[in-house]
Amino acid sequence: MKSLVILISGRGSNMQALLEASLPATSITVISNNPAAEGLTLAQAHGIATHVVDHRVYASRESFDAALAEVIDACQPDLVALAGFMRILCDQFVYHYQGKLINIHPSLLPAFPGLNTHVRALQEGIRIHGCTVHFVTPELDHGPVIIQAAVPVLSRDTPETLAARVLAQEHRIYPQAVRWFLQERLTLVDGHVEIMGVNREQHVLYSPDLES
Ligand code: GRF
Repeated sequence: MKSLVILISGRGSNMQALLEASLPATSITVISNNPAAEGLTLAQAHGIATHVVDHRVYASRESFDAALAEVIDACQPDLVALAGFMRILCDQFVYHYQGKLINIHPSLLPAFPGLNTHVRALQEGIRIHGCTVHFVTPELDHGPVIIQAAVPVLSRDTPETLAARVLAQEHRIYPQAVRWFLQERLTLVDGHVEIMGVNREQHVLYSPDLES
């Protein structure tokens, strides 16, 4: 059985989705850079061990990342899942966890890396938006895609309504990606993720509908 570490900074709804997914992990630890993260209380309510590594205590990004890695490594994780972890990680950290560090991002990458993805999606007038789980590489919000979910952008959408529609899908795809990883079904072939035993032939999603 496997050891999973989840890194959070705030609300922790993706973390909660992972905790409630009955994942094949014997050990789950939640670590936050923010002592006030609501997700910490949620994790504790699930009986999960939590740690805080407060980035404000460290003089540099490198010293914070090193302290964080020390706490993570003590858990001997098979997988480190970023779940709303709002810190840019230095290259050394990313390479240390290469192949076992994944992230969820609220857009269909490579569109809209970075912050405020829903506002930017509405500004661009795109019809289909979504979320992505990917392996982390040193480039921000970039790396081999494991799974994506698409949602329509509606004419009456605000950033909040669009965010809520995307978030509901985040809560579906993140547990699925973590499960596949822990089941050792993910392999990287030529920089792309292959998933053992998964049928990728599915229907096309149009928005708006071609018939209307
Ligand atoms: C999510 O939208 C996630 O995709 C992004 O930050 C948000 C975190 O939300 N990286 P939560 O803390 O999981 O509720």
